[in-house]
Amino acid sequence: MAESSFMEKFGSWGLVAGGSDGLGGAWSEALAKRGLNVAIVARRKEQLEAKARELEARYRVATLVIPLDLSAVSAASDLSDRIAEIDLGFVIYNAALSPGGSFVAVESGDLASAISTNVTTPTILLRNILPRLAARDRAGVILVSSLAGYAGSSSLATYGATKAYLRMLGEALWEENRFTGVDVMVTSPGAVTTPGLLSRSGKKIPGQLSPDEIVELSLSHLGKSPTFVPGVVNQIAATLLGRVLPRRSATSLMRKSSSGIST
Ligand SMILES: NC(=O)c1ccc[n+]([C@@H]2O[C@H](COP(=O)([O-])OP(=O)(O)OC[C@H]3O[C@@H](n4cnc5c(N)ncnc54)[C@H](OP(=O)(O)O)[C@@H]3O)[C@@H](O)[C@H]2O)c1
Repeated sequence: MAESSFMEKFGSWGLVAGGSDGLGGAWSEALAKRGLNVAIVARRKEQLEAKARELEARYRVATLVIPLDLSAVSAASDLSDRIAEIDLGFVIYNAALSPGGSFVAVESGDLASAISTNVTTPTILLRNILPRLAARDRAGVILVSSLAGYAGSSSLATYGATKAYLRMLGEALWEENRFTGVDVMVTSPGAVTTPGLLSRSGKKIPGQLSPDEIVELSLSHLGKSPTFVPGVVNQIAATLLGRVLPRRSATSLMRKSSSGIST
């Protein structure tokens, strides 16, 4: 979609939950580049403000900085309140926590934070804001899942399970919103060369893509199907993991392919 028609369809404000850094920084930039004002949520205020200043200077858009921990019990309602007054046309839920290690070695509090950030907050947030998006007639929602949601991911068990949940939620919301004018899509990247991943992984991961590649491929697919996997190698992996392999082979492949990444 041309950048001017994106603005016509989804302007004037976009929200990126987890939008200051890594893949989230690329989402924020992509919306600003298309002329949308951007509301950005993250925990670290300095990084958030730096990103907002950068977008304002480069793209001449307005920003709304929302420092918030999306794992907090009240996060969805606090965020809904903060964005109540803007003309919101596009929402990207990118934030995620991924506690790594054997399931029983992870502190239960860290598991709970991952579930609230990756599952509870996006679910309640969408429940709160979908009516106003539908009332606008034209709106977009992207939920960021992961290939880790296509088969049980040992050492990332809870993270993978939250990502599978998001894919099912997004598919259902695509179907429910087919005639409301709200395009809902779940994108499930494989490895993304964010600074975090590059520092954790010593080797090149098959199918790895840059944040900009993930964002542009995903945005160009919006409206075409409920789910999307960026990159041909990752699409083959998703088909193998999700549909072709017996489950014991899928979980084994998942373990082997994530063995070089320590979280
Ligand atoms: N990196 C990969 O290889 C990869 C692969 C597949 C899928 N993904 C998915 O892509 C998305 C982004 O991944 P990433 O690696 O770019 O993540 P990230 O850099 O760790 O975090 C992305 C953004 O979310 C914010 N954030 C994280 N937890 C938050 C919380 N509890 N409350 C508020 N903000 C929070 C971060 O800022 P603060 O830290 O300041 O809060 C940052 O702006 C995730 O959904 C992830 O599952 C990533």
